[in-house]
This record gives sequence, structure tokens and C-alpha cells, in this order.
Amino acid sequence: MGEGPTDTDGRGDGRARHVAIIMDGNGRWAKKRAMPRSVGHQRGVEAVRRLVRGLGPMGLDCLTLYAFSSENWKRSEDEVDDLMNLMRKFIKSDLPDFVANDVKLKIIGDWQGLAPDIVAMLEDALAQTADGSKTLAVALNYGGQDEIARAAAKAAAAGEITASAIEAQLDTNDLPPLDLLIRTSGEIRLSNFLLWQAAYAEMLFIDTLWPDFKPEHLAQALNDFARRERRYGGR
Ligand code: IPE
Ligand code: IPE
Ligand code: MG
Repeated sequence: MGEGPTDTDGRGDGRARHVAIIMDGNGRWAKKRAMPRSVGHQRGVEAVRRLVRGLGPMGLDCLTLYAFSSENWKRSEDEVDDLMNLMRKFIKSDLPDFVANDVKLKIIGDWQGLAPDIVAMLEDALAQTADGSKTLAVALNYGGQDEIARAAAKAAAAGEITASAIEAQLDTNDLPPLDLLIRTSGEIRLSNFLLWQAAYAEMLFIDTLWPDFKPEHLAQALNDFARRERRYGGR
């Protein structure tokens, strides 16, 4: 009661705290240039790097990036290997950047199922960034349905299957509510990303292919978000 239309947390200033991005279009970016998909993924990593470096002035508490879905294992072995190797390289090269940019890393999804060396690298990165004040959540081996099923199983084991009990067990339980979900590359679907969290999130679908995404695109999206009226079913 008495909450403003854009108010999720009592501040009512309409500022987005938590934005998530489905980083799509690496393959099409490469195809347009007659390059292998792996080059598109490399350029995609560069777009992530630019965004992390440009995060400061955006005023977000959390940015969540969809990096590898639980369905992406269906891709060719070569492409999956490329993506896993890029992940290894990115963690190694950019961990100091995270620390310098006050970023706290968080991983959502069934990431313990990744290769043991990647799990070890991620555990180290989580420990090294634990004191960061803004969160970069990376969805790895993530599927929204899987996340909900795992959360529901934990809620059931604790004897309470209600929406709030399930929500408390989601991988995102320590993150602010999702304000804005962006998908690049022109596809208008969720592809199993943050299904629960998207219940009242604003959505933005843009044609830009992920490797072309710049911090200015996010700044524009945040301006767009600030003009939206959120209602949460009330009036
Ligand atoms: C997104 O780009 C990256 C991942 C899913 C890992 P895609 O590889 O899906 O690029 P398109 O959709 O084929 O263009
Ligand atoms: C979603 O993109 C997954 C990531 C961006 C990591 P996809 O490219 O895998 O989704 P679909 O296959 O087009 O639905
Ligand atoms: Mg895609």
C-alpha cells in the first residue's frame, strides 16, 4: 500500500537495480562477416569486458549475464569446447579487472557440473571478489526450469512448498528483484532464462548483435526503463 508504481523496494525512484541480459547473436555477427562462430564468441567476450569496465556510472547493484544455458550442450563439441576455453581465458585475464572495478562475482545455474578445472577457477574468483560492492552474476549451465525444480525440491525437503519458500531457494535468492531483462539480436523469447524472476520484470528486445553491444546501449536501456510504469497487478 502506498507504493509508487515503480517502487519495488520503498525507494520509488524508478532506478533499475538489477538488469539481466541474454547475450545473443555472436554466431550471426560472425556469419555476416564470413568468419567462424568462434570469432563471434571472442568478440562477445570483448563486449562483456567493455560492459564490466563501464558499469560504474550505471548505478546498478547487479548485472546478470546469460553466458551458457543448460541447453547449449546441444551445440557441436567444437563450439562447446570453444566456449569453455573462452571462459577459462576470460576468468584468468579479467579477474584483476573485477577486483579493480569493485565487482563481486556470483555464478547461477548448475555450475558445479562444469569441468573440474573451471569449477576450481570459479571458486577462486568468487573468493577473490567476495568484497565487491556490485554484483556481476553469470549464468553458467543455467536453465530457469532446472533452477525452479532444484529450488522446489529444497523447499519440499524443508516442508513448505509456497511461492516465497521456493523463491528463497532460487540461485538468485541473495540478489535484488529483477527490474529489466534485455535480449540482444532480435529474438523475442526467454530461452529458459530467469523464468521465475521475470514475473514482473520489464523486458527490452533489441536488434543489436551481442558483439556490437556497448555500455551506451545499457545506458539507453536504463533511460528507457526509467520511463516505464510498473504496476505489479495493482493500479
Ligand atoms: C550467444 O550467441 C552466445 C551463446 C549462446 C553462448 P549465439 O551463439 O547464440 O549466436 P547466434 O544466436 O547463433 O547468432
Ligand atoms: C540463449 O541463447 C543462451 C545464451 C545467450 C547463453 P540461445 O542462442 O542458446 O537461445 P535459442 O536457441 O536461440 O533459443
Ligand atoms: Mg543464439
